[in-house]
Amino acid sequence: MEIDIRRPDDWHLHLRDGAAMAAVVPFTAARFARAIVMPNLKPPVTTTAQALAYRDRILAALPPGSAFSPLMTLYLTDRTDASEIEVASQSRWVKACKLYPAGATTNSDSGVTDIRRIDDVLARMSEAGLPLLVHGEVTGNVDVFDREHRFIDEVLAPTLQRFPKLRVVFEHITTARAVEFVKGARAGVGATITPQHLLHNRNAIFEGGIRPHYFCLPILKTESDREALLAAATSGDPRFFLGTDSAPHEQRTKENACGCAGMFSAHAGIELYAEAFESVGRLDKLEGFAADFGADFYQLPRNTDRIRLAKRDWSPPANYPYSKDGGALVPMRAGETVRWQMVT
Ligand code: DOR
Ligand code: ZN
Repeated sequence: MEIDIRRPDDWHLHLRDGAAMAAVVPFTAARFARAIVMPNLKPPVTTTAQALAYRDRILAALPPGSAFSPLMTLYLTDRTDASEIEVASQSRWVKACKLYPAGATTNSDSGVTDIRRIDDVLARMSEAGLPLLVHGEVTGNVDVFDREHRFIDEVLAPTLQRFPKLRVVFEHITTARAVEFVKGARAGVGATITPQHLLHNRNAIFEGGIRPHYFCLPILKTESDREALLAAATSGDPRFFLGTDSAPHEQRTKENACGCAGMFSAHAGIELYAEAFESVGRLDKLEGFAADFGADFYQLPRNTDRIRLAKRDWSPPANYPYSKDGGALVPMRAGETVRWQMVT
Protein backbone atom coordinates (compact mmCIF):
# COMPACT_ATOMS: atom_id res chain seq x y z
CA MET A 1 0.00 0.00 0.00
CA GLU A 2 1.14 3.55 -0.74
CA ILE A 3 -0.31 6.93 0.14
CA ASP A 4 0.60 10.43 -0.86
CA ILE A 5 0.06 13.55 1.16
CA ARG A 6 0.91 17.22 0.91
CA ARG A 7 4.51 17.70 2.10
CA PRO A 8 4.32 18.09 5.90
CA ASP A 9 5.95 20.62 8.25
CA ASP A 10 7.38 19.93 11.70
CA TRP A 11 6.07 22.55 14.12
CA HIS A 12 8.41 21.56 16.98
CA LEU A 13 12.01 20.53 16.34
CA HIS A 14 15.39 20.57 18.09
CA LEU A 15 18.35 20.88 15.72
CA ARG A 16 21.18 21.80 18.16
CA ASP A 17 24.20 23.47 16.55
CA GLY A 18 27.57 22.75 14.95
CA ALA A 19 28.44 19.16 14.05
CA ALA A 20 25.36 17.77 15.81
CA MET A 21 23.08 19.98 13.76
CA ALA A 22 24.82 19.00 10.55
CA ALA A 23 24.30 15.34 11.50
CA VAL A 24 20.54 15.61 12.11
CA VAL A 25 19.15 18.33 9.82
CA PRO A 26 19.23 16.20 6.63
CA PHE A 27 16.67 13.80 8.16
CA THR A 28 14.17 16.60 8.67
CA ALA A 29 14.97 18.31 5.37
CA ALA A 30 14.27 15.09 3.46
CA ARG A 31 10.71 14.92 4.81
CA PHE A 32 9.47 18.32 5.89
CA ALA A 33 9.26 21.62 4.00
CA ARG A 34 9.57 23.76 7.13
CA ALA A 35 10.16 23.37 10.82
CA ILE A 36 9.78 25.53 13.89
CA VAL A 37 13.26 25.32 15.39
CA MET A 38 13.51 25.42 19.17
CA PRO A 39 15.86 27.99 20.72
CA ASN A 40 17.22 25.98 23.70
CA LEU A 41 20.85 26.10 22.66
CA LYS A 42 23.67 26.78 25.09
CA PRO A 43 23.53 29.78 25.40
CA PRO A 44 19.88 30.13 24.35
CA VAL A 45 18.69 32.04 21.29
CA THR A 46 17.17 35.13 22.90
CA THR A 47 17.39 37.79 20.19
CA THR A 48 16.31 38.09 16.58
CA ALA A 49 19.92 38.71 15.57
CA GLN A 50 20.93 35.41 17.16
CA ALA A 51 17.98 33.60 15.58
CA LEU A 52 18.87 34.87 12.11
CA ALA A 53 22.52 33.89 12.53
CA TYR A 54 21.40 30.44 13.72
CA ARG A 55 19.13 30.16 10.69
CA ASP A 56 22.05 30.91 8.40
CA ARG A 57 24.08 28.14 10.07
CA ILE A 58 21.21 25.71 9.52
CA LEU A 59 20.90 26.68 5.85
CA ALA A 60 24.65 26.21 5.42
CA ALA A 61 24.39 22.67 6.81
CA LEU A 62 21.61 21.58 4.42
CA PRO A 63 22.30 19.04 1.67
CA PRO A 64 22.85 20.76 -1.70
CA GLY A 65 19.59 21.62 -3.43
CA SER A 66 17.45 21.28 -0.31
CA ALA A 67 14.45 23.61 -0.19
CA PHE A 68 13.95 23.14 3.55
CA SER A 69 13.12 26.41 5.33
CA PRO A 70 13.82 26.71 9.08
CA LEU A 71 11.43 28.97 11.00
CA MET A 72 12.90 30.50 14.10
CA THR A 73 11.86 31.11 17.71
CA LEU A 74 13.14 33.23 20.57
CA TYR A 75 13.78 31.83 24.04
CA LEU A 76 12.01 33.95 26.66
CA THR A 77 13.82 34.76 29.88
CA ASP A 78 12.93 36.90 32.90
CA ARG A 79 15.02 39.62 31.25
CA THR A 80 13.53 39.54 27.73
CA ASP A 81 12.87 43.14 26.71
CA ALA A 82 9.51 43.92 25.14
CA SER A 83 11.31 45.91 22.43
CA GLU A 84 12.83 42.62 21.22
CA ILE A 85 9.31 41.47 20.32
CA GLU A 86 8.99 44.39 17.90
CA VAL A 87 12.19 43.36 16.15
CA ALA A 88 11.11 39.72 16.06
CA SER A 89 7.67 40.38 14.67
CA GLN A 90 9.10 42.51 11.89
CA SER A 91 11.68 39.92 10.91
CA ARG A 92 10.86 37.52 8.14
CA TRP A 93 11.91 34.37 9.97
CA VAL A 94 11.09 34.61 13.67
CA LYS A 95 7.67 33.03 13.96
CA ALA A 96 7.14 32.58 17.71
CA CYS A 97 8.61 32.82 21.21
CA LYS A 98 9.12 29.82 23.47
CA LEU A 99 8.33 29.72 27.16
CA TYR A 100 10.47 27.29 29.10
CA PRO A 101 9.57 27.38 32.77
CA ALA A 102 13.01 27.62 34.43
CA GLY A 103 14.31 24.14 35.20
CA ALA A 104 11.57 22.27 33.30
CA THR A 105 13.77 20.49 30.77
CA THR A 106 16.99 20.43 28.70
CA ASN A 107 18.75 23.84 28.71
CA SER A 108 15.91 25.58 30.49
CA ASP A 109 17.97 27.14 33.32
CA SER A 110 17.65 30.58 31.75
CA GLY A 111 13.90 30.15 31.35
CA VAL A 112 11.13 32.14 32.96
CA THR A 113 10.82 31.82 36.76
CA ASP A 114 7.28 33.25 36.94
CA ILE A 115 5.18 34.02 33.87
CA ARG A 116 3.86 37.23 35.43
CA ARG A 117 7.37 38.64 35.16
CA ILE A 118 7.04 38.76 31.39
CA ASP A 119 3.56 40.29 31.17
CA ASP A 120 4.86 43.26 29.17
CA VAL A 121 6.45 40.85 26.67
CA LEU A 122 3.25 38.80 26.38
CA ALA A 123 1.24 41.98 25.83
CA ARG A 124 3.50 42.95 22.91
CA MET A 125 3.33 39.45 21.47
CA SER A 126 -0.43 39.57 21.69
CA GLU A 127 -0.56 42.91 19.84
CA ALA A 128 1.90 41.71 17.22
CA GLY A 129 0.14 38.36 16.72
CA LEU A 130 3.37 36.50 17.53
CA PRO A 131 2.49 33.08 18.98
CA LEU A 132 3.66 31.92 22.41
CA LEU A 133 4.84 28.31 22.45
CA VAL A 134 4.72 26.75 25.90
CA HIS A 135 6.58 23.86 27.42
CA GLY A 136 3.55 23.00 29.51
CA GLU A 137 4.98 21.74 32.76
CA VAL A 138 5.39 23.33 36.18
CA THR A 139 8.65 22.77 37.99
CA GLY A 140 9.70 22.26 41.58
CA ASN A 141 8.65 19.51 43.94
CA VAL A 142 5.65 18.37 41.88
CA ASP A 143 5.09 14.76 40.83
CA VAL A 144 6.57 14.32 37.37
CA PHE A 145 3.30 12.81 36.08
CA ASP A 146 1.21 15.77 37.37
CA ARG A 147 3.28 18.61 35.97
CA GLU A 148 1.20 19.14 32.84
CA HIS A 149 -2.09 19.20 34.75
CA ARG A 150 -0.70 21.70 37.22
CA PHE A 151 0.60 23.86 34.37
CA ILE A 152 -2.88 23.99 32.84
CA ASP A 153 -4.45 25.13 36.09
CA GLU A 154 -1.72 27.38 37.45
CA VAL A 155 -0.16 28.91 34.34
CA LEU A 156 -1.93 28.27 31.05
CA ALA A 157 -5.58 28.90 31.92
CA PRO A 158 -4.86 32.16 33.79
CA THR A 159 -2.52 33.37 31.02
CA LEU A 160 -5.14 32.76 28.32
CA GLN A 161 -7.59 34.78 30.40
CA ARG A 162 -5.20 37.64 31.07
CA PHE A 163 -4.26 37.85 27.38
CA PRO A 164 -7.47 37.00 25.52
CA LYS A 165 -5.92 37.59 22.10
CA LEU A 166 -2.55 35.93 22.65
CA ARG A 167 -2.03 33.04 20.24
CA VAL A 168 -0.67 30.00 22.07
CA VAL A 169 0.60 26.56 21.12
CA PHE A 170 0.48 24.07 23.98
CA GLU A 171 3.52 22.06 22.89
CA HIS A 172 3.83 18.27 23.01
CA ILE A 173 0.67 17.59 24.97
CA THR A 174 0.69 14.27 26.79
CA THR A 175 -2.57 13.79 28.66
CA ALA A 176 -6.30 13.31 28.12
CA ARG A 177 -6.79 16.36 30.31
CA ALA A 178 -4.67 18.50 27.96
CA VAL A 179 -6.72 17.27 25.00
CA GLU A 180 -9.94 18.30 26.74
CA PHE A 181 -8.45 21.64 27.72
CA VAL A 182 -7.42 22.47 24.14
CA LYS A 183 -10.81 21.40 22.77
CA GLY A 184 -12.55 23.71 25.21
CA ALA A 185 -10.14 26.62 24.84
CA ARG A 186 -10.91 29.93 23.18
CA ALA A 187 -9.87 30.63 19.57
CA GLY A 188 -6.14 31.05 19.01
CA VAL A 189 -5.05 27.99 20.99
CA GLY A 190 -3.47 24.98 19.29
CA ALA A 191 -1.41 21.99 20.38
CA THR A 192 1.34 19.83 18.94
CA ILE A 193 1.57 16.08 19.53
CA THR A 194 4.75 13.97 19.19
CA PRO A 195 5.02 10.51 17.61
CA GLN A 196 6.22 8.94 20.86
CA HIS A 197 3.18 10.15 22.79
CA LEU A 198 0.89 8.71 20.09
CA LEU A 199 2.68 5.35 19.93
CA HIS A 200 3.89 4.58 23.45
CA ASN A 201 2.79 4.78 27.04
CA ARG A 202 4.96 5.00 30.13
CA ASN A 203 5.47 1.24 30.32
CA ALA A 204 7.93 1.70 27.43
CA ILE A 205 10.35 3.38 29.84
CA PHE A 206 10.45 0.29 32.06
CA GLU A 207 10.07 -2.64 29.64
CA GLY A 208 12.32 -5.33 31.16
CA GLY A 209 14.63 -2.68 32.67
CA ILE A 210 15.20 1.05 32.44
CA ARG A 211 15.06 2.30 28.84
CA PRO A 212 16.69 5.71 28.63
CA HIS A 213 15.80 6.15 24.96
CA TYR A 214 12.13 6.37 25.93
CA PHE A 215 12.80 9.17 28.40
CA CYS A 216 11.58 12.54 27.21
CA LEU A 217 9.85 15.51 28.80
CA PRO A 218 6.98 15.73 29.29
CA ILE A 219 7.35 12.07 30.22
CA LEU A 220 5.23 9.40 28.49
CA LYS A 221 1.90 8.98 30.27
CA THR A 222 -0.76 6.26 30.68
CA GLU A 223 -2.41 4.14 27.99
CA SER A 224 -5.68 6.06 28.33
CA ASP A 225 -3.78 9.32 27.84
CA ARG A 226 -2.17 7.87 24.72
CA GLU A 227 -5.59 6.83 23.40
CA ALA A 228 -6.97 10.32 23.99
CA LEU A 229 -4.03 11.90 22.14
CA LEU A 230 -4.44 9.51 19.23
CA ALA A 231 -8.17 10.23 19.05
CA ALA A 232 -7.48 13.98 19.01
CA ALA A 233 -4.72 13.78 16.40
CA THR A 234 -6.83 11.63 14.09
CA SER A 235 -10.10 13.50 14.61
CA GLY A 236 -9.55 16.14 11.94
CA ASP A 237 -9.77 18.87 14.59
CA PRO A 238 -7.46 21.64 13.30
CA ARG A 239 -6.33 22.63 16.77
CA PHE A 240 -4.07 19.55 16.88
CA PHE A 241 -1.05 19.37 14.59
CA LEU A 242 2.30 17.72 14.06
CA GLY A 243 5.37 18.59 16.14
CA THR A 244 7.89 15.79 16.51
CA ASP A 245 9.93 17.32 19.36
CA SER A 246 12.76 15.28 17.84
CA ALA A 247 15.49 15.98 20.40
CA PRO A 248 18.89 14.43 19.70
CA HIS A 249 21.30 13.67 22.53
CA GLU A 250 24.55 11.81 22.24
CA GLN A 251 24.26 8.14 23.21
CA ARG A 252 26.64 8.52 26.18
CA THR A 253 24.52 11.29 27.68
CA LYS A 254 21.33 9.20 27.38
CA GLU A 255 22.86 5.92 28.62
CA ASN A 256 24.08 7.55 31.77
CA ALA A 257 23.45 7.55 35.55
CA CYS A 258 21.68 10.89 34.91
CA GLY A 259 20.41 10.54 31.36
CA CYS A 260 19.19 13.46 29.27
CA ALA A 261 15.54 13.87 28.28
CA GLY A 262 14.70 13.65 24.60
CA MET A 263 13.91 11.17 21.84
CA PHE A 264 15.33 11.47 18.35
CA SER A 265 12.64 10.76 15.75
CA ALA A 266 13.55 12.91 12.73
CA HIS A 267 14.86 9.86 10.81
CA ALA A 268 11.25 8.60 10.71
CA GLY A 269 9.52 11.88 11.44
CA ILE A 270 6.49 11.34 9.19
CA GLU A 271 6.63 7.55 8.99
CA LEU A 272 5.96 7.10 12.72
CA TYR A 273 2.85 9.27 12.48
CA ALA A 274 1.62 7.18 9.54
CA GLU A 275 1.99 4.11 11.74
CA ALA A 276 0.01 5.75 14.55
CA PHE A 277 -2.78 6.93 12.23
CA GLU A 278 -2.99 3.55 10.50
CA SER A 279 -3.33 1.81 13.88
CA VAL A 280 -6.79 3.39 14.23
CA GLY A 281 -7.72 3.24 10.55
CA ARG A 282 -7.37 6.99 10.09
CA LEU A 283 -4.70 7.45 7.43
CA ASP A 284 -7.18 9.74 5.69
CA LYS A 285 -6.67 12.26 8.52
CA LEU A 286 -2.86 12.30 8.31
CA GLU A 287 -2.58 15.06 5.73
CA GLY A 288 -4.62 17.58 7.71
CA PHE A 289 -2.66 16.94 10.90
CA ALA A 290 0.75 16.82 9.26
CA ALA A 291 0.50 19.38 6.48
CA ASP A 292 -2.55 21.66 6.77
CA PHE A 293 -3.50 22.65 10.31
CA GLY A 294 -0.09 23.84 11.52
CA ALA A 295 0.41 26.04 8.47
CA ASP A 296 -3.08 27.46 9.01
CA PHE A 297 -2.36 28.18 12.68
CA TYR A 298 0.87 30.01 11.81
CA GLN A 299 -0.96 31.83 9.00
CA LEU A 300 1.50 30.52 6.42
CA PRO A 301 0.66 29.05 3.03
CA ARG A 302 0.23 25.28 2.86
CA ASN A 303 2.95 23.47 0.93
CA THR A 304 2.13 22.57 -2.64
CA ASP A 305 4.33 19.55 -3.35
CA ARG A 306 3.60 16.05 -2.09
CA ILE A 307 5.41 13.08 -0.58
CA ARG A 308 4.75 9.35 -0.90
CA LEU A 309 4.77 6.83 1.90
CA ALA A 310 4.82 3.07 1.43
CA LYS A 311 3.65 0.46 3.93
CA ARG A 312 6.95 -1.38 4.18
CA ASP A 313 8.86 -2.55 7.27
CA TRP A 314 12.38 -1.24 7.82
CA SER A 315 14.73 -1.12 10.73
CA PRO A 316 16.52 2.05 11.84
CA PRO A 317 20.21 1.37 12.59
CA ALA A 318 21.55 0.93 16.14
CA ASN A 319 22.86 4.46 15.88
CA TYR A 320 23.83 7.30 13.57
CA PRO A 321 27.09 9.32 13.68
CA TYR A 322 26.52 12.45 15.76
CA SER A 323 29.51 14.27 17.20
CA LYS A 324 33.02 15.06 15.98
CA ASP A 325 34.68 12.81 18.55
CA GLY A 326 32.82 9.73 17.38
CA GLY A 327 29.75 10.14 19.57
CA ALA A 328 26.62 8.37 18.32
CA LEU A 329 22.90 9.08 18.25
CA VAL A 330 20.38 6.33 18.99
CA PRO A 331 17.20 6.87 16.96
CA MET A 332 13.68 5.96 18.01
CA ARG A 333 13.04 2.25 17.25
CA ALA A 334 16.78 1.55 16.75
CA GLY A 335 17.13 -2.07 15.63
CA GLU A 336 13.35 -2.51 15.78
CA THR A 337 10.68 -2.02 13.15
CA VAL A 338 9.13 1.08 11.61
CA ARG A 339 6.12 0.12 9.51
CA TRP A 340 6.15 2.90 6.92
CA GLN A 341 8.85 4.19 4.65
CA MET A 342 9.16 7.34 2.62
CA VAL A 343 9.44 6.73 -1.12
CA THR A 344 11.92 9.10 -2.70
O1 DOR B 1 12.58 15.56 26.10
C1 DOR B 1 12.82 16.73 25.82
N1 DOR B 1 13.95 17.07 25.18
N2 DOR B 1 11.94 17.65 26.16
C2 DOR B 1 12.19 18.95 26.02
O2 DOR B 1 11.37 19.73 26.37
C3 DOR B 1 13.50 19.41 25.50
C4 DOR B 1 14.12 18.39 24.66
C5 DOR B 1 15.57 18.65 24.38
O3 DOR B 1 15.91 19.78 24.01
O4 DOR B 1 16.37 17.74 24.51
ZN1 ZN C 1 10.97 20.36 22.56
